[in-house]
Amino acid sequence: MILNRRTFLATSAATVLLPRVAMATPATLRAEPVSAQILPDTEPMTQMLGLNGSTPGPELRLRQGETLSVMFENQTGQGSAMHWHGIRIDNAMDGVPGLTQDLVETGGQFDYSFVTPDPGTYWYHSHARSWEQVERGLYGPLIVEETNPPQVDHDITVMVDDWRMEPSGQLAGDFDNSHDFAHGGRMGNFARAMISQVSVRQGDRIRIRLINTATARIFPLNVAGIDGMIVALDGMPLASPIPVENLVMAPAQRIDIIADVTDAVSITIPTGEGPYELGRITLDGVNSNPIETAITALPVTPTAMPTPNPDQTLTLTLQGGAMGGRHAGDDIWALNGQSNLTDDPFASFARGQTARITLVNETSFPHGIHLHGHHFHEVAADGSFGPLRDTTLVDVRQSRDIICVFDNPGQWLFHCHMLGHQAAGMKTWVEVA
Ligand code: C2O
Ligand code: CU
Repeated sequence: MILNRRTFLATSAATVLLPRVAMATPATLRAEPVSAQILPDTEPMTQMLGLNGSTPGPELRLRQGETLSVMFENQTGQGSAMHWHGIRIDNAMDGVPGLTQDLVETGGQFDYSFVTPDPGTYWYHSHARSWEQVERGLYGPLIVEETNPPQVDHDITVMVDDWRMEPSGQLAGDFDNSHDFAHGGRMGNFARAMISQVSVRQGDRIRIRLINTATARIFPLNVAGIDGMIVALDGMPLASPIPVENLVMAPAQRIDIIADVTDAVSITIPTGEGPYELGRITLDGVNSNPIETAITALPVTPTAMPTPNPDQTLTLTLQGGAMGGRHAGDDIWALNGQSNLTDDPFASFARGQTARITLVNETSFPHGIHLHGHHFHEVAADGSFGPLRDTTLVDVRQSRDIICVFDNPGQWLFHCHMLGHQAAGMKTWVEVA
């Protein structure tokens, strides 16, 4: 579906507020049916799935080094499991049914407990029938604060998502639509930003944590009304902050911005008919005592340095899809000729090995490839190591090299985060012994 003003309903003036919790996390995360005002206030509520009564679920916010312990209680009516996206934790807590744990049947529960190793912007989402359960709302923000957070007036979480709505205001069913699977995935006909704060003062310094929670849509974003820098990608601080431009977010990617407010903050996407506003933070007064220090880099998260000569050099070829010869079934997509998880992993690493992996996209669609349990460097055109990411966008018929130190033991999923592609075969796994 082409995104234009007509296919989107008009947004209401009221910003959708994300539920928040203070510096305390709930003991239970209960997945259950909820109804949510996804559409503008004048439209009906939508039957969704949520956590502790809302979708998105509560923001889980901890300090670096604290332990997140929650009992996941599944009342959704179908099997589920919770994945903590991007955070480098114990394999047993990774939340992947069939690889790291059993499916949590409806009525069942599972205790997740892990220390939060790295500060940054993460999120949690269902990893069972994710193309359906994430679309239906089973996700929330996971924020790990620095020991010494940068000085800002407001720390604001922004989740961008799209939904495919029926005229009744309910989600279109048909989550297993193989036409969607074989193409770009399930694109919504309504999109918006869900923002944790309604207003700011002119002159406030803010941190914006952008998270793309869509199951398939790549959001090219523009954030107006601020003057600042991108300070982190996928939770990992940049050694040198970069200008706030060309914000292209594949599903699951995150961008952290620190900026000073110059005007109402407007988050838009370009369409054929001009910018479309996903959400806005309005101005309410002027900060008469603004923070005037320069915006500087966040402390870089220590990660293992890749060895100059990789221990393994691998190629992962992305294949299939419409125009790629496959249109139906759970093998529409493949990686190196294999659809879905095989008994043997795509690769096995001794703990601490460096691998250079060339991702070759032979298909007619872009893919956002996500590695669990690790961050990797995107290799820049000049061969230098780019930023650390956990999800990388590989464009149509392009290739991308990544360098990763596989230092987190366990069995880790490696898959497309266009979740319908994952459902239809585009996933594999690696083992770190
Ligand atoms: Cu965001 Cu395999 O997950
Ligand atoms: Cu894909």
